[in-house]
Amino acid sequence: MTASSATRKRRSAKLAQFSRHPLILFFRGFLRDPAMVGSVIPSSAKLVDHVLGPVDWDATRVFVEYGPGVGTFTQPVLDRLGPDATLVAIDTNPDFVDYLRREIRDPRLKVVRGSAADVRRILEDLGHDQADYILSGLPFSTLPPGVGPRIAAETAAVLRPGGAFLVYQVSARVFDFIRPEFGRIDRGFEAWNVPPMRLFWAYRLAPDGASAGGG
Ligand SMILES: C[S@@+](CC[C@H](N)C(=O)[O-])C[C@H]1O[C@@H](n2cnc3c(N)ncnc32)[C@H](O)[C@@H]1O
Repeated sequence: MTASSATRKRRSAKLAQFSRHPLILFFRGFLRDPAMVGSVIPSSAKLVDHVLGPVDWDATRVFVEYGPGVGTFTQPVLDRLGPDATLVAIDTNPDFVDYLRREIRDPRLKVVRGSAADVRRILEDLGHDQADYILSGLPFSTLPPGVGPRIAAETAAVLRPGGAFLVYQVSARVFDFIRPEFGRIDRGFEAWNVPPMRLFWAYRLAPDGASAGGG
C-alpha cells in the first residue's frame, strides 16, 4: 500500500467514525425530518434526572420509552431499572433504532421500530398487557394531526392503575392531549436543557385514587 492510499484509508475510517457519533446521527435525523425529531441536540443530564425523579423503580416491571432517539434517556433508565424488569423503546426512525440495537447490549432492552400510537399492540407482541411507566420525548406539537390525542389515549389505556406518563416538551400543547385522559397531572420546568423543557407527570389514578407518585 502506498503512503497516500494509507492516508486516504485512515481519513475515510475517521470520517465513518465521526458520522456514527450520536450527536451527528441525531442532528442528521433532525435535518431529515425536523417535525418528527423536534430538537437539534439530545436532552441534558439535568433533564433526565428531573423527569425520572418521581419514578418508583422497585415497583417497576415494564417501562416504555417513546422516541428514544440516540438513547439519552435509555441508558439512565436501564441504570435505574431492576434486573428482572423490561424497557421497551419505540422509535419511528430506523437509523436511531439500528444505533440503539448496536450500541446498547442489554437483555432488558427491547428496541422496536414503530409508532407510539401502536403501543398497545407492541406491548402485546412482547407478552405484556400493561406498563408501569411510559416516558415520552415525542415532539407532540409537530406530530401529524390526530396522532397526539391518539398516543395520549393509547398510553392511558395501557398504563396500569397507579402508573404514570412522564412527558418533557418544549410547548405546553401536549397538556390538551393528556388532560382528558389522566386523573392527576403534576407540572414542572427544566431550564438546564437546550431548549428549556416543560415537564408533565400524568398519573392514571387507581380506583382508590392512589398514584405511583404517592398522591
Ligand atoms: C426530540 S427527539 C427525543 C430524543 C431523545 N429521547 C432525547 O431526549 O434526546 C424525538 C424522537 O421521537 C421520535 N418519534 C417521532 N414520532 C414518533 C412516534 N410517533 N412514535 C415513536 N417515536 C417517534 C423521533 O424519531 C425522535 O427520535
